[in-house]
Amino acid sequence: MLGLVSYWGLLYMDERAAGFDARVYEPFRSFSELDARQPKDEAQLFLARGKVAYEQACMPCHQQTGLGVPGQFPPLAESEWANTTGAGRMIRIALHGLSGEVVVKGQKWNAAMPGGIGETLSDNDLAAAISYIRGSWGNKASLVKPAEVKAVKSKTAGRSQPWTAGQLLDLPDVE
Ligand code: HEC
Repeated sequence: MLGLVSYWGLLYMDERAAGFDARVYEPFRSFSELDARQPKDEAQLFLARGKVAYEQACMPCHQQTGLGVPGQFPPLAESEWANTTGAGRMIRIALHGLSGEVVVKGQKWNAAMPGGIGETLSDNDLAAAISYIRGSWGNKASLVKPAEVKAVKSKTAGRSQPWTAGQLLDLPDVE
């Protein structure tokens, strides 16, 4: 009986542990090695996702450095729109665009960002992209939750025109 059980046990281990072949376990030789390669926490994962979404939706104009292109696309790096005027305004810009005069870091711009760019991303990815912008290139604003994107979408559902900076700054209901 004992023999039978150990024989079955050996077969069981052999089937599931690939004969204890070390290659099955590589490249990690310990839990701590495996641990060291995991994303540190949810926020880090979210920001990594945001970087990808940013590169897809915003980088063509605002550039990888967040510095924009002089005379064409304003910077997001150290922009007041990315740092201090509130996530609600930035979400609105991403969803419906911005046109006309806008002051960024003391410099006047007068171009047009088309609407609909943010609509190409899921709520989660747009929140992640904006969070990535708000935490990169010297920016120091907090993370944005997908629920905030969802809330702005429902408040602005009927809108088809791009925003002007003046309209955004006059809004009472954004942080
Ligand atoms: C097709 C080019 C283009 C793309 C893509 C684009 N933008 Fe813009 N963005 C602009 C332009 C041009 C302006 C300035 C508009 C004006 O002068 O009124 C601007 C202005 C802004 C501003 C306010 C000014 C500043 O520099 O802080 C924010 C914030 C912003 N964009 C965020 C985004 C985000 C977020 C994305 C991606 C979801 C994005 N933009 C994608 C062209 C673009």
